[in-house]
Amino acid sequence: MKIYTYGNPVLRKKSKKVRNIDKETLQIVKDMFDTMEQTTPKGIGLAAIQVGVPIAIFIYKLEDDSGAIINPEIIERSGQELGEEGCLSVPGIYAPIERAEKILVKGIDLKGRRFETELLGIKARVFQHEIDHLNGIIFTDYINELEVLSVEEGYEVPEELIDKLVK
Ligand code: CO
Repeated sequence: MKIYTYGNPVLRKKSKKVRNIDKETLQIVKDMFDTMEQTTPKGIGLAAIQVGVPIAIFIYKLEDDSGAIINPEIIERSGQELGEEGCLSVPGIYAPIERAEKILVKGIDLKGRRFETELLGIKARVFQHEIDHLNGIIFTDYINELEVLSVEEGYEVPEELIDKLVK
């Protein structure tokens, strides 16, 4: 699967809720994991919209935990925490982003089971970042000056992002 990058209008689409988890849904999730596995550096989260599929699903892969979440929704947020973020759709670009420290999130797993869970730390951050994608939001939307971005060697800030930040 191709990962769409900053500036592509598909990333601004709102993802639709998944109504039934069928074979096709499971195949998309599998392909998303394969796609994320092939990125360098390896991504820790990927939303379906980033591979051009506008349905409310994201996957995550942390050191000790991975999964796919369907129709996620944040019910409660508390606290604030600044942390460095990047995105497979904005490769090589990092920025400190303020997120809720703790979230209560609900969603559906691949077996169709509803769940509700309280998250902290990196997992809470990844979920907030990915749920933003489902609403057409990219992490750099929280930035208003170019200077806060860190650019990895060999990468450039996308032109569309420069245009947005330098006026
Ligand atoms: Co992202």
